[in-house]
Amino acid sequence: MPLPIIDFAPFQLDLRAGQLCRDGVPVPLRPKTFAVLEHLVQRPGELVTKQALLDAVWGDVAVSEDVVRLSVGELRTALGDERAAPRFIETVPRRGYRFVAQPGTLTPERVAAPVAEDSTGGDGTLVGRSRESSEIAEWLRVATSGRRQIGFVTGEAGIGKTTLVDTVLRDLRRASGARLRIACGQCIEQYGGGAAYLPVLDALGALCRGADGPAVEVSLRAHAPDWLVHELAPWAPRSDGPAESTTGTPEHMLQRLATSLDALASDIPLVLILEDMQWSDHSTLDLLSVLAHRREPARLLVLCTLRPRTPSCMGTRCRASSANWSARGGAARSFSRACRRRTSRPT
Ligand SMILES: Nc1ncnc2c1ncn2[C@@H]1O[C@H](COP(=O)(O)OP(=O)(O)OP(=O)(O)O)[C@@H](O)[C@H]1O
Ligand SMILES: [Mg+2]
Repeated sequence: MPLPIIDFAPFQLDLRAGQLCRDGVPVPLRPKTFAVLEHLVQRPGELVTKQALLDAVWGDVAVSEDVVRLSVGELRTALGDERAAPRFIETVPRRGYRFVAQPGTLTPERVAAPVAEDSTGGDGTLVGRSRESSEIAEWLRVATSGRRQIGFVTGEAGIGKTTLVDTVLRDLRRASGARLRIACGQCIEQYGGGAAYLPVLDALGALCRGADGPAVEVSLRAHAPDWLVHELAPWAPRSDGPAESTTGTPEHMLQRLATSLDALASDIPLVLILEDMQWSDHSTLDLLSVLAHRREPARLLVLCTLRPRTPSCMGTRCRASSANWSARGGAARSFSRACRRRTSRPT
């Protein structure tokens, strides 16, 4: 019997394909994190101890319980879940975790139908977000003219930030044909500061793997450190020049990344989506600050989604930075478009 596809709206976990999808759109997960989700989803309502997860997922490999905590943190980010008010994964203090949604099963045929080029009303239009959509379209218009933009889409968990950004950009990309590069990176709730530039490298890696990958690689090769190009595109041949240090100073790395993004945005407009900036690492926010204050033209729109009330120092830093960039004006303008709860539900 084929392995089932487990449905816990808006997500589908395809055990046969080893893929988590959200309304039919793949959500990337590390293999161990996928395995943790698989283990939990198959035991709805059950307390699963950390030790049981370690045994099931890591087997004989000696690791600390922190790996479980990290994977569950990644899952919460991917699912848009919150520890304080879980919709999917509940923490049972000092003991383990419980999958609290009610999963059902789907047939592969139902999932194969591309449910969600739009995850909204079904006719491809976004329900009740015309003002926000126009504003994002305006940010992109200004960015396309060469004035870099950094915009924050803020709103509570589940209010529709990702849907708004995805749907508006999908429509704008359709309208502009191929003349738009869109890269999306996800911030992950991490402990101890977080890996530097995680969402930005995530987004650049996805661009390298995309249809436009070769052109992106050429641009990165000209501006980013060789080791970084190799990390983002491991298949790319190494340059013949002298080997570069793999470290450099943090300031040097910051400037080179900013220059790389500017260069990528010099010909085709680049939209860099950074999801869930309340969990950003400090380096990513420093990079945004450098980008915001540069005066050179760049066809760059950085679109950040942000939950305003999640307790995290990065959320506070993001809000302060965005206000500061707006107040200082200059080449970079920043905006904040709050998503408010819809007054009517889609039918
Ligand atoms: N304007 C809309 N019209 C119809 N459905 C919507 C709309 N906005 C959001 N939804 C639906 O609401 C759900 C949650 O939306 P979404 O994931 O975009 O929220 P979010 O604000 O990004 O959440 P999080 O903070 O957890 O990332 C999705 O199933 C989505 O399809
Ligand atoms: Mg979201």
